[in-house]
Amino acid sequence: MNGNMSKTLIILAHPKIENSIGNKIISTILLEQENIEIRHLDKLYPDFKIDIKAEQEALLAANTIVFQYPLFWYSTPALLKEWIDQVFQYGFAFGKDSYHLEGKRIIVSFTMGSPKSDYPKEILDKIVFPFQGLAKYCKIEYLGEIYSNDIHEYYEGAKENAIQISNKHSQKLLALIKN
Ligand SMILES: Cc1cc2nc3c(=O)[nH]c(=O)nc-3n(C[C@H](O)[C@H](O)[C@H](O)COP(=O)(O)O)c2cc1C
Repeated sequence: MNGNMSKTLIILAHPKIENSIGNKIISTILLEQENIEIRHLDKLYPDFKIDIKAEQEALLAANTIVFQYPLFWYSTPALLKEWIDQVFQYGFAFGKDSYHLEGKRIIVSFTMGSPKSDYPKEILDKIVFPFQGLAKYCKIEYLGEIYSNDIHEYYEGAKENAIQISNKHSQKLLALIKN
């Protein structure tokens, strides 16, 4: 389906990527792929002043859009929320005859510090609900979510475990992108 010419845009939000395990590994692996562009919002907009036109053009050039972030209080980092609020404008993403992202695909990809036992399906459903709603409202296809727990280095061996999980996460994400 998603042939060679199709482009994937990764919208990466992580305010401290230099201290990251998960999002650093995932974005590094994604960057090695052909036809994948990463926009790291914290690097582009440390002052939260988003270039809406540039972001909308990047979206238009992509077929698949991946939101990549660490889970912060069951939600996205603030800059990603601000980016969505600014960029998915009336007249661009929705509105009479202005569904310019219609037919594109969205994937949600996030990492978590807490263990899997804290995140049963009913909680995960709530986390991804805003993205599903956004997709539906803008006539975008919601492809699915990839998520990982236990991404931290709080005790002996935790970092090695987190690295392994992050590598697996990357492979699952790539498989979904190529779907
Ligand atoms: C402000 C803040 C809020 C967080 N909220 C959550 C949370 O709700 N659930 C969770 O599992 N982890 C939470 N965490 C942990 C991060 O999700 C975790 O550190 C991150 O996903 C690890 O990815 P990284 O190695 O790329 O930084 C939070 C961390 C911060 C700094």
